[in-house]
Amino acid sequence: MEGLDQAAIDAAARALESGQLVAFPTETVYGLGADAENPQAVAAIYAAKGRPQDHPVIVHLAPDAPLDYWAAGIPAEAHALADAFWPGPLTMILKRAANIPDAVSGGQDTVGLRCPSHPVAIALLRAFKGGRGGVAAPSANKFGAVSPTLAQHVRDEFGADGSVAMVLDGGASQVGIESTIVDLSRLATHGPVLLRPGHISAEAIAAVIDQLPNAPDAAAPRASGTLESHYAPHTPVAMQDSAQLRQTVAGLAAKGRKVALIHYTDLPPTHAAQRLPATPDGFAHALYAALRAMDGQGADVILVEAPPQGGDWLGVNDRLRRAAHGSTGIVHGLLNGQVDA
Ligand code: TXA
Ligand code: MG
Repeated sequence: MEGLDQAAIDAAARALESGQLVAFPTETVYGLGADAENPQAVAAIYAAKGRPQDHPVIVHLAPDAPLDYWAAGIPAEAHALADAFWPGPLTMILKRAANIPDAVSGGQDTVGLRCPSHPVAIALLRAFKGGRGGVAAPSANKFGAVSPTLAQHVRDEFGADGSVAMVLDGGASQVGIESTIVDLSRLATHGPVLLRPGHISAEAIAAVIDQLPNAPDAAAPRASGTLESHYAPHTPVAMQDSAQLRQTVAGLAAKGRKVALIHYTDLPPTHAAQRLPATPDGFAHALYAALRAMDGQGADVILVEAPPQGGDWLGVNDRLRRAAHGSTGIVHGLLNGQVDA
């Protein structure tokens, strides 16, 4: 990453204050930001992304911003988690304060808050409204598509349409998958609920608040990143374990099919391939750029070597499962010649 460009950051803060959209780096993925207290600006995010209006967006805060401006009835657990993990890749869902526009909350009685740790994000949040504002920002991708981890990904998706005033470049997002989301808005009745797994694990949260977050039930608030089909490239995606993958690669090669491979152990060469680090953090860091790169190879399928199951791999497995969701049967179809190449 290059050094902080304060002039660009100040220009971006002024653009946000005037109601425009600014894309900015965070340690998880790039966000598409707007002034959270300006309903028209928030509406412009939905329009640019092609996202349904009833999906709430996360409000990003500067370090040490007063939580009680944004949230009401804040439990001690929220302060403890903020102390432990902010700035960082944790989003907390809390009861919203009265002054939060409906557009931010998607009409729900809660608000998602997060203080990101990327230095450019922090500098932007400090420059915007003198550090007292909130920047509403979903990931800076079109609805349902893979989240961006490079400024170039954002330019590729929004550069042409004029909806985004500025893209701040902060290099590659270090974490690479979206923040962990924990819902603390119904603690008394439901306990803490893990709405989206991420770099900060349920166990790490439990170590701070003495309660392991529950899995969401059917009544949990809707989270767009928790739709079954999400984070999906245009090319179909299938996940297989290493042994099965070898056979599939050989079978598809025999059929003249083009395979783009995302793997982390030694595997035979294919039409295109990208090898990722065999650690949860390394894999997560590289995953979205790899999905985008393999999506651009004109392959019939993106085959992903299934990562191990287990705690630290939960976030990566969650995102891969969603990326593959719409592609059930693709490998069988290609092997049996039932799918047009
Ligand atoms: O890492 C991240 O969280 C990134 C960066 C830019 O901060 N942002 C991100 O935003 O992933 P987005 O909108 O793509 O995903 C945020 C998720 C969505 O699934 C949304 O529905 C959920 O957070 N969310 C936001 N506010 C919520 C609320 N009040 N209740 C339930 N879910 C909420
Ligand atoms: Mg998103």
